[in-house]
Amino acid sequence: MTSSYHEVYQAWKSKPEEFWAQAAADIDWITPWEKIFDKSRGVYGEWFVGATCNTCYNCLDRHVEGGRGDQAAIIYDSPITRSQKTYSYSRLLQEVEALASVLTAKGITKGDRVIIYMPMVPEAAVSLLACARIGAIHSVVFGGFAAAELATRIDDASPKLIISASCGIEPGRIVKYKPLLDEAIALANYKPEITIILQREQSPCELIEGRDFDYKQVVDTAIASGAKQPCVPVAATDPLYILYTSGTTGEPKGVVRDNGGHMVALKWTMEAVYGIKPGETWWAASDVGWVVGHSYIVYGPLLHGATSILFEGKPVGTPDAGTFWRIIEEHKVAAMFTAPTAFRAIKKEDPNGKFIKKHDLSSFRTLFLAGERADPDTIQWAENKLNVPVIDHWWQTETGWPIVCNPIGLGQLPVKYGSPAVVLPGYIVKVLDDDGRPLDTNTLGNIVLKMPLPPGCLPTLWNAGDRFRDSYLTEFPGYYQTSDAGYIDDDGYLYIMARTDDIINVAGHRLSTGGMEEVLAAHPDVAECAVIGIADKLKGQMPLGFIVLNSGVNRPPEEIETEVIKLVREKIGPVAAFKQAICVKRLPKTRSGKILRGTMQKIADAEQWKMPATIDDPVILDEITADLKSRGLAQ
Ligand code: COA
Ligand code: AMP
Repeated sequence: MTSSYHEVYQAWKSKPEEFWAQAAADIDWITPWEKIFDKSRGVYGEWFVGATCNTCYNCLDRHVEGGRGDQAAIIYDSPITRSQKTYSYSRLLQEVEALASVLTAKGITKGDRVIIYMPMVPEAAVSLLACARIGAIHSVVFGGFAAAELATRIDDASPKLIISASCGIEPGRIVKYKPLLDEAIALANYKPEITIILQREQSPCELIEGRDFDYKQVVDTAIASGAKQPCVPVAATDPLYILYTSGTTGEPKGVVRDNGGHMVALKWTMEAVYGIKPGETWWAASDVGWVVGHSYIVYGPLLHGATSILFEGKPVGTPDAGTFWRIIEEHKVAAMFTAPTAFRAIKKEDPNGKFIKKHDLSSFRTLFLAGERADPDTIQWAENKLNVPVIDHWWQTETGWPIVCNPIGLGQLPVKYGSPAVVLPGYIVKVLDDDGRPLDTNTLGNIVLKMPLPPGCLPTLWNAGDRFRDSYLTEFPGYYQTSDAGYIDDDGYLYIMARTDDIINVAGHRLSTGGMEEVLAAHPDVAECAVIGIADKLKGQMPLGFIVLNSGVNRPPEEIETEVIKLVREKIGPVAAFKQAICVKRLPKTRSGKILRGTMQKIADAEQWKMPATIDDPVILDEITADLKSRGLAQ
């Protein structure tokens, strides 16, 4: 099949508004838009201004009315609890209506915020959709975050209500969510009035009289009483959700997503980018706590009338490296999406693909990878073993859908290892030098997106329009700064090489080293510190902390190293994967006092490095090298 990519991209470029208006015809609107794009609204403009709609209606009611009621909407497959459950579109709608009516009865109305702090259970998806149904703004907090992180998000989003569960399940341990939730509410200045808790049999929890309500009890009662909650019309430009993501400080950024543009963009990508037809089974092996989970476990596939797999487990160890293939065979998955780290984990356990051979993967057409750099070794291994196209693609929480991809649905283009391929309609990608001048092809620089951003991308940050401007729009006027560095080759293929800020990527999870430094610095014995990301074969990167102790501290350094590791786990959460800290005498700095984190990282990763011209005291780098070597962290 020849690819229509170039024509489609040109069609968008010559008439962007017409392009999106055409895509918007696939969505049911309550009232039509007055303007497709109004640049006078919001921070940089807004999409589908004047239209009203409801995202839940488009995800569920529309499909039930259109004859998909009996089709599976969500297949929950949980090898970690050895259970499965299928929700048809009708069944899912029934539970969503029930929860939406419960939320309404508890006083939640359009525009109110609801935090969802849940493991990978179907009730998490039900909660998102119930909020969408009544126009409440949900904010999902990933289960691997600790109480303090949850408290920060509670204070920023000021939710009237929180939906949570008694526990999550990680290999070999039960993560009790309720104590974390209670601690977060105690820590937060803003106090949510109500919580709804899903009791899981693996570890039920005590409920606080008058504040905590049992999810199953309230939902079952609502179903039994035939409670129906109609969809509340919202403006296309109203927020559907806030999703917090790491910024350069410990203060996370609340990425806002609107209703109308989001639906249009996601629906379009399901077919054009991922090549999925309504009715087919699609699997994004991520977590509802991340943007991939929002866009491609819940909203994208349901808007499209597809069947979505909701997976509670790990690529290895639940029970083995064959889980992915078992799921693909059993549920006839047409395409899946995960992070390269998952494949590195599988490849490590099953290098020869023995588990793959045990399964019939004839339904499987495409593997999509994103969230971190896809190393060519992993791509080639997956291609050889699975015999399907392996498609790397690049995007961010902020954009909500891919920026650069090899769009399978428009016809696959040649794959170039190390590149997520070409820019999708909606985006113009440029590479600029630090002064904002365009760079030639094959020259490394700052990757930016020409404004305005397409539908579905963030219109602003929650309660922080100025931070949005400062973080993304100020440094390169007229462009959105992605904070990724890379280059474009002569065929228009983009290569993502590194972040330009202090964000690191650990197992496909985006983490702020600045946030970890804030935790280390709060230890009473720590005078100063630096956290860097060092290369890791499995997770891509792992954080490494350097700490300088206050003078006069004469406890064994190992004791303090253990304490700071514990502190990061307590304050940020296990997801930070902060397992290494070393005490050093001094930190290398420039004469103006800037810590040379980049040079330390190159030393640790055994990369070529040059003595920075502005270094204050070069001897410190020798000391750091010796310290790293003594721990086996540098060659
Ligand atoms: N709730 C509580 N704790 C969680 C959690 C959750 N939802 N998710 C992860 N954690 C914990 C893990 O148990 C681990 O704890 P530990 O330090 O006690 O072992 C820690 O957070 C780090 O998690 P992670 O970095 O994911 O490592 P892992 O060893 O558990 O798993 C992979 C490694 C590669 C198997 C896993 O990261 C993976 O499947 N990644 C690919 C899919 C993905 O998540 N993509 C994200 C964006 S697409
Ligand atoms: P997140 O917002 O958590 O999705 O993280 C987005 C960041 O992950 C990007 O800015 C990149 O740094 C990185 N990233 C995502 N996808 C890719 C990819 N395909 N290749 C390289 N880096 C990626």
